[in-house]
Formats: sequence, structure tokens, C-alpha cells
Amino acid sequence: MAHDHHDHHNDHEHGDHHAPHDHGDIDWAEMAPHLEAQAELYTPLYRQAMAWLAREVTDPGLVVDVGSGPGVVSCLFAETFPGARVVAADGAAPLLERAHARAERLGFGDRFGTLAGDLPAALADLDYPADLMWASQSLHHLPDQRAALAALGGHLAPGGTLAILEGGLPARFLPRDIGFGRPGLQARIRAVEEDAFAEMRADLPDSVAETEDWPAMLTTAGLKHTGTRSFLLDLPAPVSEAARDYVTTSLSRLRERIGERLDADDLATLDRLLDPADEAGVHRRQDLFVLVAHTVYTAVRPV
Ligand SMILES: C[S@@+](CC[C@H](N)C(=O)[O-])C[C@H]1O[C@@H](n2cnc3c(N)ncnc32)[C@H](O)[C@@H]1O
Repeated sequence: MAHDHHDHHNDHEHGDHHAPHDHGDIDWAEMAPHLEAQAELYTPLYRQAMAWLAREVTDPGLVVDVGSGPGVVSCLFAETFPGARVVAADGAAPLLERAHARAERLGFGDRFGTLAGDLPAALADLDYPADLMWASQSLHHLPDQRAALAALGGHLAPGGTLAILEGGLPARFLPRDIGFGRPGLQARIRAVEEDAFAEMRADLPDSVAETEDWPAMLTTAGLKHTGTRSFLLDLPAPVSEAARDYVTTSLSRLRERIGERLDADDLATLDRLLDPADEAGVHRRQDLFVLVAHTVYTAVRPV
């Protein structure tokens, strides 16, 4: 198969797919531990989404995880569909190495492949069409989302399902009033993040602006929209250490990325939250929670 581990190594050796600037300015390989921890924490949400998908998709031969990152979800697919071959496709070869190691560790190595390269073009190396394609928060990193959907659809077997996870509701970690600073910090941070996200998209080479009406885009891509459902990750206080680490890392990364765009008061509040020595900071406070909703849209390639 073109996408077994051996060939993935060839990709790694002869290509430069893992260069951070291959697909935008984000250094995905550097994010590996965070992406992995996040997907592990979000596993209950993915399991709900997969149970929903498994009602429509029975016994797929090939499942492709498009923009898989470190492969946590790819491995959940291998577990959910024991008869399936799973291919994790991504532009960041170091993330795919993690995906492969994970699959080996969990005992799925013999039916797990990776495909390194720019998406969606890299999917041309698939040996046969997919029965199920999953793209979780990867499409929004591609310059032309509508064209990408059409390309993904072209790699589906007739009757095959494309499931995309995009949108939903942003993660909340803190109460509206945290006892210091101006109430509503997370909502204001979110507004700044939305601007940064819009700039990220606009700065992608050959970026195409799009009304993000996913059912309409799926229809334009020649697919039949079959369902939309949102899934909740609801980890109430008091949270596990893993959830606390995730919140802490998320807010630290956010501070690095967009801290300077916050007003001085909010930045001071965020810095206090990130101070490990502060009783009211996220390292210690007892009211932290994780609440997030992700939406999954499904569509079928007509027979
Ligand atoms: C936000 S992460 C999502 C990872 C995983 N699907 C999840 O939900 O946790 C986006 C992934 O898309 C990949 N990606 C972004 N743009 C890409 C491109 N143009 N070609 C290939 N992969 C790309 C990144 O390397 C990264 O692993």
C-alpha cells in the first residue's frame, strides 16, 4: 500500500512536508503534545460522535482521518471499526510518527497507515476510495474550503460518508466572574481569537472567503448532506489534573498568541490567572471546568 509506514518514512526522508511553513504559519509539530493531550481529554466527545456515525456507517473497509494530527482520533476509529483499515493523513510528518507509534502501542499497527503531504492533494496517494472520511478542525486551515470538500468527496467510495467537525461553541473554562478583573474575560478573549482566526485564514496563500454554511458547501461539493449534530464535552469542577493542565496550556498558548491584543486590564487578569503561585490562578483554583460543543456534519457520496 502506498500509505504504509515504510512509505511514510520515504515521505519524511525525501519531502519537506513537516516544515512549519508548508501550510500556513503554524508550527504543528511543535504543538504535538498539546494536540495529543487535547484529543485525549476530548475522547468522550469523540466517542459520542463515533457512536452516532456508526449508526449510519457499518463495517467500513477504509477510514481516512484527514488532518489527523497525532492520531488520537484515528486510533479511536480503529477501535470503533475493528474491520477497517485506517489512514491518518496530515502535512506534519512528526505528528504522523506519533500517530503510527500510538497505533502500534494500541495493537492496531497492522491495519494503520499514514499519508504525509499537503491536503487535499496528498489524498491522491490513497490506493482505493474511502468508505468513511473524517476531517476534524482541519478544513478551516485549507485556503479553499469548498474546493477541499469537493476533493475529499472525490476520494469517497459511492455511498461513502464524509464527516466534518467544524464550529460548535468555544471552550469555556472559567465562570463569568472570577473574583478579580472585569467580569466576562473569556468572552472578550474569544472575540480577539475570532479576529486572529479570520486573519489566519485571510493570510493563507490563495485564501478564498466563504460563507461557512457547511450543509450548503457539502451539497455544492456534489454530496448529499445527511445529518448535523453537536456533541458536548462537559467536565465540571473539580477537574482532573489532565483537564487542569489542558486549561493551563491553552491559556498560556493564548497569552503568547494574542495576549498583546487584549487591553491592559484583561492582560493583567490573564497573567494573574497564569501565575502558578497565585491561589486564584488556574493552577490552583477549584472552580475550573471544561465545557465545549463541537458540531459534526455528515454527507454521503451518491451511489
Ligand atoms: C487543529 S489540528 C486538528 C488535528 C486533529 N484532527 C484534531 O481534531 O485534534 C489541524 C491539523 O491539520 C493539519 N493541516 C493543516 N493544514 C494542512 C495542510 N494544508 N495540509 C496538510 N495538513 C494540514 C495540521 O498539521 C494539523 O495536524
